[in-house]
Amino acid sequence: MSKLTLSPAWQALTAQQLRIAHLSLRELFAADATRVQRCCLEFGEILLDYSKHRIDAETLRLLLALAEQAQVPAWIRRMFAGEPINNTEDRAVLHVALRSDRATFPEGRDVMPAVRAARERMRRFVDEAHRGALTGATGRRITDIVNIGIGGSDLGPRMLVRALRRFHQGGLRLRFVANVDPADLDATLAGLAPEATLFIVASKTFTTAETLDNATRARAWLEGALGRSADLSRHFAAATANEAGAAAMGIAPERMFPLWDWVGGRYSVWSPAGLALALAIGMDSFEELLEGARAMDAHFHTAPLERNLPAVLALIEVWYVNFFGAQSHAVLPYSEDLRDFPAYLQQLGMESNGKRVDRDGTEVDYATAPVIWGAAGTASQHSFHQLLHQGTPLVPVDFIVFKEAGGDPPAHAALVANALAQSAALAFGNPAPGAPHKALPGNRPSNLLLLKRLTPHALGQLIALYEHKVFVEGIVWNLNSFDQWGVEFGKQLARTVLPRLLEGGDAGDLDPSTQALLKRLRKRD
Ligand code: F6P
Repeated sequence: MSKLTLSPAWQALTAQQLRIAHLSLRELFAADATRVQRCCLEFGEILLDYSKHRIDAETLRLLLALAEQAQVPAWIRRMFAGEPINNTEDRAVLHVALRSDRATFPEGRDVMPAVRAARERMRRFVDEAHRGALTGATGRRITDIVNIGIGGSDLGPRMLVRALRRFHQGGLRLRFVANVDPADLDATLAGLAPEATLFIVASKTFTTAETLDNATRARAWLEGALGRSADLSRHFAAATANEAGAAAMGIAPERMFPLWDWVGGRYSVWSPAGLALALAIGMDSFEELLEGARAMDAHFHTAPLERNLPAVLALIEVWYVNFFGAQSHAVLPYSEDLRDFPAYLQQLGMESNGKRVDRDGTEVDYATAPVIWGAAGTASQHSFHQLLHQGTPLVPVDFIVFKEAGGDPPAHAALVANALAQSAALAFGNPAPGAPHKALPGNRPSNLLLLKRLTPHALGQLIALYEHKVFVEGIVWNLNSFDQWGVEFGKQLARTVLPRLLEGGDAGDLDPSTQALLKRLRKRD
């Protein structure tokens, strides 16, 4: 057994789970008239109701003891101090600097001059575009922006451009291309005017095959329409930490926006990787997003663990994953604008903590990141809620609800009512005597995150909340949440399979199944 699972805090939680696992949520509520007050935390625009969880005061005390044992407060300070906590890449983790307004940060390794300079350059570029001064090779105004990027260089900006569609300004149309499947770029370019289209090539490394392939095809599309002699650099910008790579693709230096090695891709939407978002909503709204995240950073950095929203959310996740064997977590935004949020959280949570080796390189003997999935409510209710209510897997759920919506209040009220009803039905069930097929067992846990309105500021808080939740989980599981070595071998293998697929030749080094599939794929039909 590992140091963690042998540890006093872990052992105490194991015993505690045996003590309360039989207690239903109905019994936990009945036993404590102050439960709702005690199990609600509020910060900024977010109210977290965690009362519908299979925990009591003693469980939370023991979970907080586990966090203390894991030295969560010290690790938080280390991150904010810019220490190289990404130990396998020997890098600091400073996405919080991207939304900081401090003159210098962190002490002894000030990155703020670079951050401010980049933000200023983004503002000038966005203003130029919104004024109609951004023109292509023919002098025509740029009206369509296509972000070419994948993973962290796509999911964040794509999710937020949709989520903040009520805050769009400047009249630009935004599209996103990520997949190497040519259908993605082809469908995106269909109907676009090359003269009026600008591509943002977003890639921290500028080595990602899909992004480079799509950017090359986009260049060919422009060249085909505008001619080889046209100044195509007017149709490109890049967000990257690899200026040489961008230059090699013909990106003009004044159109290169920096990323840094101390920002992980999945934590980069606050940086120039969010340029497409800034073009959609304007720099003022982009900075409101940063402000919201900054507020959550201050809360996370200073609030005691028992009142710290990210820490409490993380510990509840550990409770179910490690002491109830939950293998997945559903995130259900009751907001069509926030439909892509679960996909964003998949990369954030699963690429950060989907690991089986701890910081010391030892294989873990405990579960780590659950599978994160979800969809927008109420559509989700007519899809997989059957399983949530009557299925066999234990799936903790996050409901994300906005008190006020941009649209029709009665319709919005119906949306909110459904979220409350679903959360209650999961928790308290419905006996249905004599009709077992109709009975809901209940006792199914959920958080409810209630926000006032969907605004850039509120979303900044919400996303930072989940970023820090993932960080605390990684600390408790003793993982480096900021690398992703597991994705490299598949890419490498694809690079060896591709030439065999295209040109044939010996594939003896590949497994028999792949060899046979290559043979079938190369066979003329
Ligand atoms: O393959 C995974 C990954 O490295 C992610 O971590 C990253 O967000 C994505 O690919 C894209 O990387 P880049 O921004 O360097 O193109």
